[in-house]
Amino acid sequence: MKKSKKIAALILVAAMTALALGGCGSSSDDGESTENGDSEKTPHYIVATEPTFPPFDTTDEDGNIVGFDMDLMNAIAEEEGFTVEYKAFEFDSLIPSVQSGNADIIAAGMNAMDPERQEKVDFSDTYYDSALVVVVKADNDTVTGFDTLGSDMRVASQIGTTGADKANELAEAGEIGEAVINNGYDTCMLQLQNGDVDAVIVDKPVAETYIAKQGGTTKIVGEPEGAESYGFAVQKGNEELLAQINDGLAKLVEDGTYDELVAKWFQ
Ligand code: ARG
Repeated sequence: MKKSKKIAALILVAAMTALALGGCGSSSDDGESTENGDSEKTPHYIVATEPTFPPFDTTDEDGNIVGFDMDLMNAIAEEEGFTVEYKAFEFDSLIPSVQSGNADIIAAGMNAMDPERQEKVDFSDTYYDSALVVVVKADNDTVTGFDTLGSDMRVASQIGTTGADKANELAEAGEIGEAVINNGYDTCMLQLQNGDVDAVIVDKPVAETYIAKQGGTTKIVGEPEGAESYGFAVQKGNEELLAQINDGLAKLVEDGTYDELVAKWFQ
């Protein structure tokens, strides 16, 4: 009896040690490899994102930040000889995080063609073309696009995004009743499902991914507006890192890795 208790205690200690070591191992994989000295001072960068934007930026079942942006940035890092780790921020905190040095790179499906953003950070070459669309419930037959949104309608979008700019613009012009600005796009989609809002303004590839996953309970209506192109961003003046990102990106486009990642993340 006593012996089996002792054994049980030993097993518990062993299991806890294994857990603790396992936990450390995975986080120090990227985080502390520079200090280990095994590789000659590999630069390590914090990549900021906002992960409610699948397939670009999302989380897996274990809560890890994953997506097209992450796969692409991981491949760039490998190509260029640096390591990365991802940190989640709210979308409107991404640029400040890089400006203040809390992060080194933004990978967040971010429109690089925005002059206001260009004043605050430097963007890489663009890696994905996009535009905004209106998403409504599948059974909605009054809204057929941007121009049939009505002054009695609530329209959701994510804070700090091009979609939020558009929603705010429509609200100011009296073309919609209210712009409902949320921290996450997941919240916008829930509000649409719940009937809290009449429509969501979001990037087309994200809308398409969401609709495919939800089995057609929502739909895109009308024509896309406001063409944009996504780029990675770094602190103003960080030419070295920007050149590495551009070089890596060009190589991945050339060797077909970029296309493989598109095939993996977009149906
Ligand atoms: N493309 C839009 C923008 O640049 C939305 C990006 C949202 N990204 C995200 N990771 N939540 O404003």
